[in-house]
Amino acid sequence: MVEAKERILYSETQIAEAVKRVGAEITRDYTGRLEETEDKIPLIIGILKGSFIFMADLVREIDLPCKMDFMVAKSYGQGTVSSGYVRIVKDIDTDIKDRDVIVVEDILDTANTLSSVCEILRARKPKSLKVCVFLDKKIDRKLQFEADYKCFDIENEFVVGYGLDYAEKYRNLPYLGVLPPV
Ligand code: IMP
Repeated sequence: MVEAKERILYSETQIAEAVKRVGAEITRDYTGRLEETEDKIPLIIGILKGSFIFMADLVREIDLPCKMDFMVAKSYGQGTVSSGYVRIVKDIDTDIKDRDVIVVEDILDTANTLSSVCEILRARKPKSLKVCVFLDKKIDRKLQFEADYKCFDIENEFVVGYGLDYAEKYRNLPYLGVLPPV
């Protein structure tokens, strides 16, 4: 299937445990403050493509009625350097005014993507806006940004698997790996 030459950072089992823990945290935080009318239950927004596997597993660990939508955001920059400018390529279909919103992203790196996405979403006046990331990379960020929920903190290494890619490859690895230096 895939070339398993990567160093494994987190196994399938470790990932499943972390996702379960975060799903339980979200369930706990939103239980009891739900307005369970069709248009008021929390909306979970996945940022594509990287979040698709995490989102699929996470929502099955959230024991609450919720709805889902997706957004595609592209960061413009040259090579591996992010310009800080993010464009929404595909927007959500849902009106989020007065809704509890949870944004789900694969990884918090420079935080350019999530800061821009949150700024765009906040302007639409949701009731609340929280951010859930699979990974939080330890880097010296220019932007101050804290996720409300996260599975793992990682060192500043390029990781692949569980939805994360290198040149569109490796997203289907069931574990999180670090590519060997080329
Ligand atoms: P940002 O720098 O926080 O805006 O992250 C932008 C995007 O870069 C993330 O959503 C990921 O798709 C991608 N990215 C950042 N670090 C990694 C990594 O280590 N592996 C794979 N993708 C990454």
